[in-house]
Formats: sequence, structure tokens, C-alpha cells
Amino acid sequence: MSQVTISALQRMKAQGEKIAMLTCYDAGFARVIEAGGVDVLLVGDTLGMVVQGQESTLPVTVGDMVYHTAQVARARRRAFLVADMPFLSYSGPEVALRTAGRLMKDGKAHMVKLEGGASQLETVQRLTGQGVPVCAHLGLQPQSVHRLGGYRVQGRELRAAEAMVSDARALEAAGAQLLVLECVPSALGAAITRSLSIPVIGIGAGPECDGQVLVLYDILGISPEPLPRFASNFHRGRDSIQGTIEAYVAAVREGRFPGPEHGFQ
Ligand code: KIV
Repeated sequence: MSQVTISALQRMKAQGEKIAMLTCYDAGFARVIEAGGVDVLLVGDTLGMVVQGQESTLPVTVGDMVYHTAQVARARRRAFLVADMPFLSYSGPEVALRTAGRLMKDGKAHMVKLEGGASQLETVQRLTGQGVPVCAHLGLQPQSVHRLGGYRVQGRELRAAEAMVSDARALEAAGAQLLVLECVPSALGAAITRSLSIPVIGIGAGPECDGQVLVLYDILGISPEPLPRFASNFHRGRDSIQGTIEAYVAAVREGRFPGPEHGFQ
């Protein structure tokens, strides 16, 4: 059983092997998800919505994130473990360093994820300069839902798309080693994936990203219907959770998911 490391993910990108990532919030699911072959476990702040029943990710605290990350870490054996930094827990480089410290020391995360582009460059540099691996998150940034006016596709206008490509490059140059790209037109997802050397993991970013991430509760059919266009209930017609995870991983690896119908124009 070889460990999935950031170098292994980098190699997968170089070899054109798709990366399967899934959100995970507790030890029980961590075991099943790993057995299903997922490469990267994301303790996402979506836990605020799917586990805690909140209306958005905004109320999630650092304590919540550490609590759930530690649960996942106790069961994890092989997968790479990424934890979200919650809303307002990285409002400056020093605050971010403290939050990342808790997620890595107490939560045992391998990498932290933060939302934002140009405004986060200094923070990304500070974190990576101290040995904290960073996953950036561009496109739809759910922590900014009220600023954005809703959960909307981002980067449809030319200027916004160009700014996103430039932010993505700058984040990579600042030291980010992974990028999650959420809800952008498929053509922009493809362009950003081609222009970076770090792996780009899409969610509603089209079929040409280096990998895919979905919310666990969506693929299990637990989330209320209708699901967002980019998600899919892989449990329909299956009778085991592990079989569902295996089907998701196989569909991502073989390039069958996401299909063009899961993307945006
Ligand atoms: O919090 C989360 O689960 C995420 C994914 C939707 C990418 O950031």
C-alpha cells in the first residue's frame, strides 16, 4: 500500500492519470472511502451544510474543522488528507499560520485549503515558506456567497476568465501545490489546467481537469434532490456504499465522469 503524497499527485498529472478526490468528515467513512480507492480525502467546510445542517459554510469554526479532520486522520492509511481553513480563519498570513498549525498538528492534515486569488498570495507564501502545503480554491468560492450574490458560475466574462487564469498562475508561483476549481465554464477549466504544472481538481469545471472532487453526501444520494448539475448520485442502483465509492473512482479514472453534461458553458 503506497502512500498518496503530493509528489504522487504531481506524477499522476504528468502521466495523464486522473485523480479521484472526495469529501469526508469522519473515521467510519474514511475507511470505506479509502477502500474504494479514493486518492485524496477533503475534510471540506461543506460539513457545515451536510453534517451540521447550516445554510452555508460560514458558521464552521476552526474547532469544528480540527475535530472532523482528526477523526478522518485516525482512520486514514493511504490517501492524502486535505483540510479546509474555514471562513475568516485566514484573514492574514499570521492568523492563517495559526489555523494551519491547528489543522496539521491537532487534526493531522497533510495540506490546508483556502479560497481566493490575488488577495491570498502573501498568505500562501507565508504558509508554504513555513512548510505548510497549500491547496488553493478558485472559481465559485462558497465562503464568499454573500459577496457573490449566490452560488453562481464564475469566469463567464472574458475579463473575469483572464483574471482567474492569472490568479491561478500567481497562486502556483506563490507555492500552492494543488488547485480546486469550482463552477467555471468547461473551456476555462481546461485552459487553467493546461496552464498550470500543479494538479487542478475540478468540481463543475468540466472534463479536462486533472481530477475531480465531489461532496460525499451527493454521490451517496443523501443530499436533497435536485443535485447541482455537476454532481451525480452514484448510489442509485447500487446496494453497497463501497460499491458506490468504487463506481465514482472508476468513472473519474476512466474519464467517464464528469461528462460534458455536468459542465457549464
Ligand atoms: O468544502 C468543500 O467540500 C469543498 C468542495 C466542494 C470542493 O470545498
